[in-house]
Amino acid sequence: MKQEKWLKTHTKSLIGKTVAITGATGGIGTQLCHIFAKLDANLILINRNLERSNKLKLELEKLYPNINIEIYKTDLEKIEDVKTTAEALRHKQIDILILNAGAYKIKRKTTSLGFDNLFQINFISQYFLVKKLIKNLKQSEIKKVVAVGSIAHEYSSINLSDIDFSSVKSDSKTYGNAKRFLMFSLFELLKKQNIDFAVAHPGITPTNITQNYSKTINAIIKYPMKAIFMKPEKACISIIEGVFEAQDYGTWVGPKHFNIWGAPKVSKLKTFSEAESKQIYDIAEKIYTKIKTETKEI
Ligand SMILES: NC(=O)c1ccc[n+]([C@@H]2O[C@H](COP(=O)([O-])OP(=O)(O)OC[C@H]3O[C@@H](n4cnc5c(N)ncnc54)[C@H](OP(=O)(O)O)[C@@H]3O)[C@@H](O)[C@H]2O)c1
Repeated sequence: MKQEKWLKTHTKSLIGKTVAITGATGGIGTQLCHIFAKLDANLILINRNLERSNKLKLELEKLYPNINIEIYKTDLEKIEDVKTTAEALRHKQIDILILNAGAYKIKRKTTSLGFDNLFQINFISQYFLVKKLIKNLKQSEIKKVVAVGSIAHEYSSINLSDIDFSSVKSDSKTYGNAKRFLMFSLFELLKKQNIDFAVAHPGITPTNITQNYSKTINAIIKYPMKAIFMKPEKACISIIEGVFEAQDYGTWVGPKHFNIWGAPKVSKLKTFSEAESKQIYDIAEKIYTKIKTETKEI
């Protein structure tokens, strides 16, 4: 799959449109920003690191002088940050929202909200952001949200006595559980809100997501990862497909060969059930209400 050729036939100009994206400074996020800039979109970068964000902004402005880029410093582990960003974005035009930020192998801790930080970064904060930006999206003719999912959501199903998997030691299971919450809750929320939604899986691609593996593991996997799997510039194509193609409830888009290699293909999520999805949505809404109450939001 030649990226340039694929982009020509599967995308269209986004001139005058604004894409808001979380985790833009990461391996996949940076590649996505380059594609959106090439398609003439303006960008809202929702990132935790200002230095890396400014570097990316300058890099894009140099290549695309007409682009408008705004940065909103947001640590998704801190709900106050997310609230401040959502408030600052209240009157901004947002046509496409990409929920790309993700954390996997990090030091686990309980956040101020009382949840496992993996659950909060990958799910709660980004669900909260969507809830707050629904009004912005509804004003757009595009109205699209794309959540970056992961095959890891298949590793486990919800456990009502341990919603955030805080007692689960395996980071991959806790990460997968959070992705499952993000994907399934948004199927319900955005269907109700009449906003286009896609879940996209990039496959496996070497990025910083594995940076906290031990030095030995990193040394062992570094070269095989680069040799075997698609590079981030190819892996991000599934997310772009998610932006431009309409997608049905309970489906996702990912690389066509074993969800790891190749051009994007939409398929039914074999893990999906409407009953579980609705259950997850109810939990997501309860968490959202809890945040509003605890942070004294009216
Ligand atoms: N790489 C893969 O094989 C793979 C497979 C399946 C799904 N995914 C998903 O793809 C998405 C992009 O990941 P990636 O592979 O590009 O990894 P990455 O290079 O580590 O990028 C992750 C992004 O999330 C941001 N992030 C992490 N914790 C955050 C926090 N507390 N607050 C705000 N932002 C935070 C990172 O910010 P910093 O730049 O500041 O670190 C970075 O921009 C993630 O959702 C990931 O779960 C990746």
